[in-house]
Amino acid sequence: MEKETFIFEQDLLQMADRTRKKFCKDEVHLRGIIEFSNYCSRDCLYCGLRRDNKNITRYRMKPGEIVGLAVKIAAQGVNTIVLQSGDDFYYTQKSLCKIISQIKQKTGAAVTLSIGERPLDDYQAFKDSGADRYLLKHETLNPALYRILHPGQNLKQRLKILEYLKKIGFQVGSGNIVGLPNQSIKDLMRDVLLLKELDVDMAGIGPFIPQKDTPLADQPPGDLDLTLKVLAMARILTKNAHLPATTALASLDRESGYLRALKSGANVIMPDFTPASYQINYRIYDNKIDLSLKKAKQIISKAGRTISRGRGDSLKKRP
Ligand code: 5AD
Repeated sequence: MEKETFIFEQDLLQMADRTRKKFCKDEVHLRGIIEFSNYCSRDCLYCGLRRDNKNITRYRMKPGEIVGLAVKIAAQGVNTIVLQSGDDFYYTQKSLCKIISQIKQKTGAAVTLSIGERPLDDYQAFKDSGADRYLLKHETLNPALYRILHPGQNLKQRLKILEYLKKIGFQVGSGNIVGLPNQSIKDLMRDVLLLKELDVDMAGIGPFIPQKDTPLADQPPGDLDLTLKVLAMARILTKNAHLPATTALASLDRESGYLRALKSGANVIMPDFTPASYQINYRIYDNKIDLSLKKAKQIISKAGRTISRGRGDSLKKRP
């Protein structure tokens, strides 16, 4: 019985790898991430950046610093810049638009935003300033669990924003956390089905990892093999969505996590360009890996794949 289960699991991961090859070829896309602020107005129970965490040194990068870093990243041949932060309203619509348009003027790179929930007209303004993509993970589709984990937020609003982002022409990414306390396998199946239903351009799937200064500090981490299976299912169902080998997944298996993800459906990897002095305080979860561009390239070649030279835009055909 155990053996059969094992064979089935291998089949699932291999099927995902074949699906990836058929729809995404052997190219792996690099996305250079800048974690530009660890301030957050939300209080998500699992996240180390949560508002109520007093045991963290907060930082904000200056607009000029962010743009300068983006230019350096693009000069190294990384053609997508991901700007990520906590939900930090210190950066106004105007200041973010300026950052986006300057990066677009100075580089040929795509700009992806991962800055959480904002008033809807902010998204339109970001789009008008040249932002190409938006990442907003739904985290979990279980409404009760969502409510407990995200005080003051609601799932309906999150999904509404995702639809809106799609409507105004962003390439949209969602995704979920695997192994949250009290999450069932059925919940995970629903998460993956949502990615198909939303027809997402991209999706990030990673395990829950406890962070010591959060209310979930003592909870067990998500299971690595289960996370790989959820990733594989996402590949099989979404076919050509861009799916990163997430840092969270790799943080659970520092030796071969990225590699295993790339062989289970993933086709994207995200080296971290946040300056080290800030990066040490971007503690979403404990023991987070700091992936260099050099290491990312080594992993791609070890996986027998090639580095994409393009921007790695969505493979979805939109009307
Ligand atoms: N474990 C795993 N992933 C986490 N995230 C935040 N906190 C954790 C955690 N403790 C993820 C969320 C968020 C992304 C930036 O990091 O999915 O969208």
